[in-house]
Amino acid sequence: MALIFLSLALPLISSLPTSLSDTLTKCPRITCSEPLGDDVCFLHSSDNPVSWIKLQSCPPGKLCPSPLASFTTHSQSILAANDPLKSPTFQRLTKATCETTYNRNLLPGRKCTSNFQCQSFVCEEQKCKGYSSGASCYKHEQCDIGLACISKGAFPYATTCDSLRKIGDQCEEDVECQQTSVCWYQTRGDFYQSKKSCIVKYGLSDNQTFGWAPKHYETYQDVLYNGRLCQSGFAVPYYDSNDTRPLGLCTTFTNVYTDQGNFTMNQAAQCMVSNLASYCQYHYTTPTGIENVVKIRCACPADGSIGYCPLPSIEAMRKYSLYDYALSGNGTNCHTLDRNSELAQSDCGIGLTSSLLESYLNAKVLIEQWPLAQNERVRKCLEDKRPESYKGIVLASVAGSEAQWILVRMVISVVIISALLI
Ligand SMILES: *[C@@H]1O[C@H](CO)[C@@H](O)[C@H](O)[C@H]1NC(C)=O
Ligand SMILES: *[C@@H]1O[C@H](CO)[C@@H](O)[C@H](O)[C@H]1NC(C)=O
Ligand SMILES: *[C@@H]1O[C@H](CO)[C@@H](O)[C@H](O)[C@H]1NC(C)=O
Ligand SMILES: *[C@@H]1O[C@H](CO)[C@@H](O)[C@H](O)[C@H]1NC(C)=O
Repeated sequence: MALIFLSLALPLISSLPTSLSDTLTKCPRITCSEPLGDDVCFLHSSDNPVSWIKLQSCPPGKLCPSPLASFTTHSQSILAANDPLKSPTFQRLTKATCETTYNRNLLPGRKCTSNFQCQSFVCEEQKCKGYSSGASCYKHEQCDIGLACISKGAFPYATTCDSLRKIGDQCEEDVECQQTSVCWYQTRGDFYQSKKSCIVKYGLSDNQTFGWAPKHYETYQDVLYNGRLCQSGFAVPYYDSNDTRPLGLCTTFTNVYTDQGNFTMNQAAQCMVSNLASYCQYHYTTPTGIENVVKIRCACPADGSIGYCPLPSIEAMRKYSLYDYALSGNGTNCHTLDRNSELAQSDCGIGLTSSLLESYLNAKVLIEQWPLAQNERVRKCLEDKRPESYKGIVLASVAGSEAQWILVRMVISVVIISALLI
């Protein structure tokens, strides 16, 4: 699902002469309270640097479609490029209208009332059903829950629906592994041999290593992506020898040093985003006891302040990884491709009655949008109005009056809780 990046323009920059401001990073403005018109859930200014993004909730039974246009601090500084893939608006919606897509084209495991709702066109006992183990297949979507379309691994590489790979088994991609594990390089040697295996999420403690690989070719994102293997949630590329490839080192950063000062990892570290050379220096200690640093570009804020370092606090990451792991563990009745679909998890996974899904979704805002979420108003807006918000999912997953009733119950429980607090 597209990440939505939202923030306020820097007032300082707009008052600078154009020639000078063009050399600085600008940040977009967010609005969450403006009426956008019936059924419009997303509007994006369609320019670059992006000047504004606006959000609105969908009515009951409807969901905001993806992929939505976005921005990154880096893309804000691109004024022209020959590669459309560098644009945050290429092949993405800049205006989105709420759709009733939630009950069509469902993967195996999802609740259904008619065959036509399922990708497989088989609805049995009110659940979409896919092929059983051993059946010939050409894509994961065809296989039932707990299965993926996997090749036997030797010529002629026939693919059949087979049970998800266990920890330590070889794999090509995450969806072949059980839902609490990811497909990655166990060692640097594995990286050289392009050999990935299923590794449990958040399993390695600080100072443990694995095979680092770039995924997004952007340090901030790769620290988090490789960090999926670590208890701390953070990994750094670690050059332990004269080998040209780094190891992935699980670590807990000790502090972050910026052009605005020295911050602890439990603070929101400030930095000057308008300055293209403003970097956040995240400090860590190597297993050999040496102080080392990983540099990450300062990111756009949403509160008109100067900018924030992008990595979340240790505490925010700790909560997120706990919720994420529990959600995955409760998702085994969902299709392997639905592991990252919160809407699916609300149906075949943990469900809407547990508070886990809401806790997870709110923790995710902090992990993915740490700099923007430092502003209370923007954090609330992202929690409530982005398409995959808990409220959005509650409204989308149950039709009409039923959704209203759940919302009424949510309001009643809030009133009761507040009454108890008084
Ligand atoms: C560095 O490379 C040299 C040869 O180029 C090798 O002899 C040496 O063992 C390497 N050092 C480490 C620490 O890997
Ligand atoms: C930043 O603070 C940490 C402790 O919080 C300290 O160990 C470190 O030396 C400080 N760095 C600088 C450059 O002041
Ligand atoms: C990691 O290694 C450093 C340096 O040897 C050591 O100070 C630190 O306690 C280790 N951390 C853990 C969690 O073992
Ligand atoms: C399912 O979620 C609950 C929290 O709601 C958690 O305590 C439990 O460990 C999860 N189950 C698995 C198998 O992860």
